This record gives sequence, structure tokens and C-alpha cells, in this order.
Amino acid sequence: MERPTSTIVSFDHDTPALARVYARRSTPQWRHGRLLLDTLALQEGESVLDLGAGTGELARLAADRVGPSGAVLALEPLADRVALARSKPRNNLRFEVGGSERLDGLPARSFDVVLLNSVFHWIADQQGVLDDMARLLKPGGRLGLSTGIADRPHQQAMVLAPVLTRHGTGTPVARLSPPHPAHPEELRRQLLAAGFEQPRLDTHTFVDHFSDLGALLEWNASSFFGNFPGGFSPHQTPDLWREAERALDPHRTREGIALERYLLLVTARRAASARPAAGSIQL
Ligand SMILES: C[S@@+](CC[C@H](N)C(=O)[O-])C[C@H]1O[C@@H](n2cnc3c(N)ncnc32)[C@H](O)[C@@H]1O
Repeated sequence: MERPTSTIVSFDHDTPALARVYARRSTPQWRHGRLLLDTLALQEGESVLDLGAGTGELARLAADRVGPSGAVLALEPLADRVALARSKPRNNLRFEVGGSERLDGLPARSFDVVLLNSVFHWIADQQGVLDDMARLLKPGGRLGLSTGIADRPHQQAMVLAPVLTRHGTGTPVARLSPPHPAHPEELRRQLLAAGFEQPRLDTHTFVDHFSDLGALLEWNASSFFGNFPGGFSPHQTPDLWREAERALDPHRTREGIALERYLLLVTARRAASARPAAGSIQL
């Protein structure tokens, strides 16, 4: 069956500058990534696949946790982010350019843990990637992923979308969010269909703080690798900028602009007797 591909997401808008901003500003993703890693309870000597590793912060933490006898493979489609990630090497960590479309070359049953932190909601063919993860995991291996939720857009999208719409950019909430957020019950079904057991899907609320509107937009642009609707600045669109500032006023706190994000943290175990990998023969 032909796999669906996203018509919205482009990997061509990233730049070395956006990659550097992501490395500096991705504390929000780091916080729930660390929580996910804690839940997965990595052990010394384990092998880990981090799919969509970005600039590699979480992959490095995974490498520290599995120790010198373990190994982490970090795949990331954006070459500038891989280049940055490689500038902080670890002996047991390999960064490669690649994404969910190019997993065929990896041998089946080669990982104890696979991880997708803030990546799943960018992928159009979600059943396909879950099938691949089940193929790549050893029997009993663990999957961990975090994703946005379809009926719970982040607060920033609810605040900014009406402002952008009023200024004629026609930006709906969906354009300010990754394109494939999870429908939890559908995701549970997909996990079971892929051969996962004991799926746990927990909704978490995270509160992020931004020093100002500029910092919020920078975080978005780098987290969306250039796909976030841009073109608003204090100089070129001063009215829009002022209105966005006003819309954020109710969220200003002593720590900065406080905005809630809602994420589904998902863990599951590949069944010990998962169905055979495509093309293999079960004896
Ligand atoms: C918000 S960043 C998260 C990066 C990293 N996982 C972290 O926790 O910091 C989203 C990442 O997903 C990657 N991504 C998007 N679509 C992907 C796909 N189809 N396969 C693999 N990675 C993908 C992007 O290139 C980007 O680096």
C-alpha cells in the first residue's frame, strides 16, 4: 500500500541559524523528553534509536544513561541539525541524516528502545512508522513518544491564531501547530495493530516561560524548522506585533510569558511474539 506523505511539512526551510536557535531554546522539548527517558528506564548496555533527534540533546542524555557498553543511533532529516549535533560527540552515539521514510536499511530487532520526542506529530504515515518501530525493536523492547493532541491545541495557538486572522494572514489554529497531532484512541488502535502491548497514553500539561514575544516566535520557528507562519516583526508589521503583545498580556508573569502545552506521553512494549518483519520467514 502506498504510504501517505505530508503536503505541508518541508525540510527545505531549515537553516544553520534556526538549528543553533533550536539547540539554545529547546528547553521545553528537553523537559518532557527527559521525563520520557525516565519512564523508559534505560539500562546500561542497551541500544537506542532516537528518531528525529534534532540537535541531539536527548540522544546525548540517552548515551550517558546506556553507558560505554550501550549504543545510541540518532536519526534526523535536517542536515544542519545533524552537523550541530555531531559537534558534541560521544563514543557510543552516532548521528545520521535520515527520517521515518528511510528506515528500511536498518536491521530488524536491533534496538531495546526507540524514542520519538516531539516528532510523531510531524509524520503523516503514523501507522507506517509504528510498524517500522515494531520491526526495529527486539521482542519486549520499549517505545516512547511524545506528541501533540488533536483536540487540545497549545495555548499559544489559541492566543496567536485570532490575531493573525484579524490581520488578514488567515492563519487557523492548525497552522500554528504540527500537522498530525494524535487522536488518542486511534493511536492506541494503531499501537496494537503494529504489535505493541501494554500501551500507556498519559496527557500532561507543561507550562513554558518566554522572556518576550520575540523569544516565543524564535522558539516556534526553530521547533517548526522554518514551517511556522512567519513574516511578523515589530518593524515590518508593527500593528500586528502590538496586538500579539496585547493578546499575550494575560499570560505575563514574573517568570515571563507563561503558556501551557498539552502533550500525550506514550509508552508501549513490543510483543515478545510480534508478527514477523515484512519479507522474513518465521520458522
Ligand atoms: C521539535 S523537534 C524535536 C527534536 C528532538 N527530538 C528533541 O527532543 O529536541 C522535531 C524534529 O522532528 C524531526 N522530524 C520531522 N519529521 C520527521 C520525520 N518524518 N522523520 C524523522 N524526523 C522528523 C524534525 O526534523 C525535527 O528535528
